[in-house]
Amino acid sequence: MKDSHGRVIDYLRLSLTDRCNFRCVYCMPEEGVCSMAHDEILRIEEIERLVHVAAGLGIRSVRLTGGEPLVRKGVVDLVHAITDIPGIENVSMTTNGVLLPAMVDDLKAAGLSRVNISLDTLDTEQFRAITRVGRLEDTLAGIDAALEAGLNPVKVNAVTVRSLNQDFLAFAKLSIDRPLHVRFIEYMPVGNAEGEGGTGWGKADVIPSEELIGIIGEQARAAGLPDLVPAAKASKPVGWGPARYFEFSGAAGTVGFISPLSRHFCSECNRLRVTADGKVRPCLFSDDEYDVRAALRAEDDAAAREVLLRALGAKPDEHHDKVGTERNMSQIGG
Ligand code: GTP
Ligand code: 5AD
Ligand code: SF4
Repeated sequence: MKDSHGRVIDYLRLSLTDRCNFRCVYCMPEEGVCSMAHDEILRIEEIERLVHVAAGLGIRSVRLTGGEPLVRKGVVDLVHAITDIPGIENVSMTTNGVLLPAMVDDLKAAGLSRVNISLDTLDTEQFRAITRVGRLEDTLAGIDAALEAGLNPVKVNAVTVRSLNQDFLAFAKLSIDRPLHVRFIEYMPVGNAEGEGGTGWGKADVIPSEELIGIIGEQARAAGLPDLVPAAKASKPVGWGPARYFEFSGAAGTVGFISPLSRHFCSECNRLRVTADGKVRPCLFSDDEYDVRAALRAEDDAAAREVLLRALGAKPDEHHDKVGTERNMSQIGG
């Protein structure tokens, strides 16, 4: 299906829950979000119905997000059911990785093809400070488990924030020995970042990708590593998202950059998002939402289709610098 700006929309980001076993500082307040009530959340059958309807409109790839998608009960069966829906070619997931060692074999058997794992620092103390409750070794074990299970590609998402002073080279080096695709993401001040209880991180904390490419290149030279060059086509990982990829020559993986602020990729946007409580969002940055839950609950596929088409028609040509504030990332799914 095409939107009103001629873009092919074939990728659905489905948030399964706003709950998470972490409390990342940029994603939710310390006490956690005021979770959606149980009956507000789409039921598993409703999600399957939604994907059926979306596939009928031309959705081909589904990415499961959260909160943390792996804390949602029934997620393995859901992956299985979605991969069986005619038209769906690819089911992927964005996760913090903690539950992967226990679940990855079942997920792979159910048809999950690939995962993106969120990891913002390789320093134990900083990891605890960012996630508030997490242990670095658990997420690292999740990455190992994903590679061992043969999910391909395995990507690592690192949100970059100037005042955090992360060790970027240590991250980039993860791509050398194993087929890991490390992506640096410009921090997006979505939600209540600068309000009460927020991180206080604003525009000054965004590290533009061009600057970061320069920093990593310099650090790599100083460390005697090969130059970071644009990745050859054959090296680029499968994905329909917005990253630009580089590589250290001879490396097993790549280093990607996602630049939602410094280099809008709106003209290549291929996606719709649905929140765990069944609101279709035409754009990550806008508070505009269309409720599909009522139609799904009434088992009215024609009405659900109508809602998806209305959201499609409302996709803006690009996002503007003012971002939505009504939901934070854990309630949207990134
Ligand atoms: P693949 O390319 O399919 O692997 O997925 P992806 O990189 O789009 O998905 P992932 O969930 O790993 O998201 C990586 C980062 O890109 C996160 O910070 C997302 O919030 C961001 N992102 C994903 N889609 C969009 C989008 O449409 N607009 C903006 N501004 N950011 C997005
Ligand atoms: N800016 C950029 N990326 C973010 N993510 C969560 N919050 C933000 C933000 N404010 C990332 C997560 C995850 C992905 C879905 O979005 O780290 O990898
Ligand atoms: Fe959980 Fe991801 Fe939000 Fe961290 S960023 S609290 S891992 S949903």
